[in-house]
Amino acid sequence: MTRPGLGETGGMSSASAAGVTVFLTGLSGAGKSTIADALVARLEADGRPVTVLDGDVVRTHLSSELDFSRAHRDLNIRRIGFVAGEVVKHGGTVVVAAIAPYEAAREEARELVERHGRFLLVHLSTPLEVCEGRDVKGLYAKARAGEIPGFTGIDDPYEAPARPDLVLDTSVTPLAESVARIRAAIDAAAAGAPGAVA
Ligand SMILES: Nc1ncnc2c1ncn2[C@@H]1O[C@H](COP(=O)(O)OP(=O)(O)OP(=O)(O)O)[C@@H](O)[C@H]1O
Ligand SMILES: [Mg+2]
Repeated sequence: MTRPGLGETGGMSSASAAGVTVFLTGLSGAGKSTIADALVARLEADGRPVTVLDGDVVRTHLSSELDFSRAHRDLNIRRIGFVAGEVVKHGGTVVVAAIAPYEAAREEARELVERHGRFLLVHLSTPLEVCEGRDVKGLYAKARAGEIPGFTGIDDPYEAPARPDLVLDTSVTPLAESVARIRAAIDAAAAGAPGAVA
């Protein structure tokens, strides 16, 4: 019977397995879920399991009691950051797709993740006019009609990230290119991830 020797890699988690969170932020309709889906398909095809934290799903299962006040938006992002950190701690890959309009909350999420691994902030900077023109969910029309007060980009703020790792405008960047550029950023982060897993 053979057993891996203690002091090698056997038994405990591998120190080289640095986890990473890709955090997609941008207006409703900017392309977060679309890119997340394509990115996840690509990563899983490569044998890399991914935890997806999409704002809509998180608000159904993890934050169903929260509204869209600033306090609750921030709490939602804090929860997402905590969960992402727990997954990254064990070398996992997380893709977050959330409007996350406030810089301070995004930076809190970054801090929660960077305790355990890498955090890549991707700003989908698709202009409001394009997002509104797409109006995938019909929400902009309702917001303009006054039926959804406090809608990001209409009568609620979106603070553009001060230090994004990547900025992609989906009105000019094809989906495949967005996925490829995020992939490259993940690979670069993983390659240069000293001590990401303590
Ligand atoms: N190059 C592109 N990249 C991504 N999405 C694109 C692109 N071109 C067009 N689209 C379309 O833009 C829409 C983006 O909608 P999506 O649901 O992904 O936005 P979202 O950011 O997740 O919005 P929400 O915050 O409301 O969930 C989709 O209908 C998608 O097909
Ligand atoms: Mg979405």
